Amino acid sequence: MKAIVCKVFGPPEALVLEEVPSRPISPSEVRVAVKAAGINFPDTLIIQGKYQMKAEPPFIPGAEVAGTVTEVGAKVQHVKVGDEVAAIVPVGGYAEEVVAAGDVVIRLPKGMTHAQAAGFPLVYGTSMHALKQRGQLKAGETLLVLGAAGGVGLSAVQIGKLMGARVIAAASSPEKLALCREHGADEVIDYSKESLKEAVKKLTKGQGADVIYDPVGGDLAQECFSSIAWNGRYLVIGFASGTIPEVAVNRLLLKGASAVGVFWGAFIAREPKVSAENFQQLFAWFLEGKMTPHVSQQYPLADAPKALRDMLERKATGKLILVP
Ligand SMILES: NC(=O)c1ccc[n+]([C@@H]2O[C@H](COP(=O)([O-])OP(=O)(O)OC[C@H]3O[C@@H](n4cnc5c(N)ncnc54)[C@H](OP(=O)(O)O)[C@@H]3O)[C@@H](O)[C@H]2O)c1
Repeated sequence: MKAIVCKVFGPPEALVLEEVPSRPISPSEVRVAVKAAGINFPDTLIIQGKYQMKAEPPFIPGAEVAGTVTEVGAKVQHVKVGDEVAAIVPVGGYAEEVVAAGDVVIRLPKGMTHAQAAGFPLVYGTSMHALKQRGQLKAGETLLVLGAAGGVGLSAVQIGKLMGARVIAAASSPEKLALCREHGADEVIDYSKESLKEAVKKLTKGQGADVIYDPVGGDLAQECFSSIAWNGRYLVIGFASGTIPEVAVNRLLLKGASAVGVFWGAFIAREPKVSAENFQQLFAWFLEGKMTPHVSQQYPLADAPKALRDMLERKATGKLILVP
């Protein structure tokens, strides 16, 4: 099979397309012929050796795929050969074929395309877990989403709206904010042009946002701590800006607020039943036509370096997908 291989840590341009041998599956695994592979921000870090989870070169990057089941281990009951599925893998997704642990292979709902499915579990799974279990978002509350046109950001806008929140989307260009409005944002803030803190203050009549979803970190996170409501919850999602923010905890004290960590990868391993319930709800919304995953661009497998470069240069909106 063909695959994109990281032979040495480095920039996306150091990745190579190669012929790689398939491996046999174990009784608890499933083989999937990959029709689409999702690009995720952590992929840009893992190839540089900068992600919290390390992989030793040579390895195939890529954490999520969609495709057709071609082989099923004897212990796996819930899927069969020919099923259309999405799968999460630690690495290995940028390839014509993956072998995944059976318990992270999910059957697709009717009508979901391979491209949509390859960009679904990680970002929607993260945002659902973040807003429901970690943020305890309630109908009528105000949700502020940073990086709101990105992968996790846009899914948080959609889910927040479906949970009944008033959603304020914050991003760096009018085009990105227009996309957020299309997907349900009630209000928008262009933080490349105006102060996030002042804009939130104005939109919430000085109250601040009840829940803040932050996949960006850096200086914007500091503004978030000034924009949080009484009893607010600041959700630590990620650090796309490259800077992990530090918080002076007196700012939480003054608002009776909490900073809450979100780690979806650990959540699905530790709480698989709750995670399955989250996906049931997400797929139900999809089937009811209430939520449409946004795939902004598809690339051939060989163009994985270009797709990763586009993500690093903040050109991506919604999901970028590789098509082997
Ligand atoms: N906690 C978890 O379980 C979990 C799960 C999945 C992902 N994550 C994390 O969430 C973050 C976002 O992931 P994603 O896949 O949504 O990425 P993405 O699609 O690239 O979105 C990230 C957004 O961050 C903003 N940004 C600000 N500064 C940036 C910079 N220097 N470089 C790139 N983007 C920048 C961009 O929006 P603007 O241009 O509008 O500012 C961009 O749309 C990553 O840090 C990832 O590791 C965490």
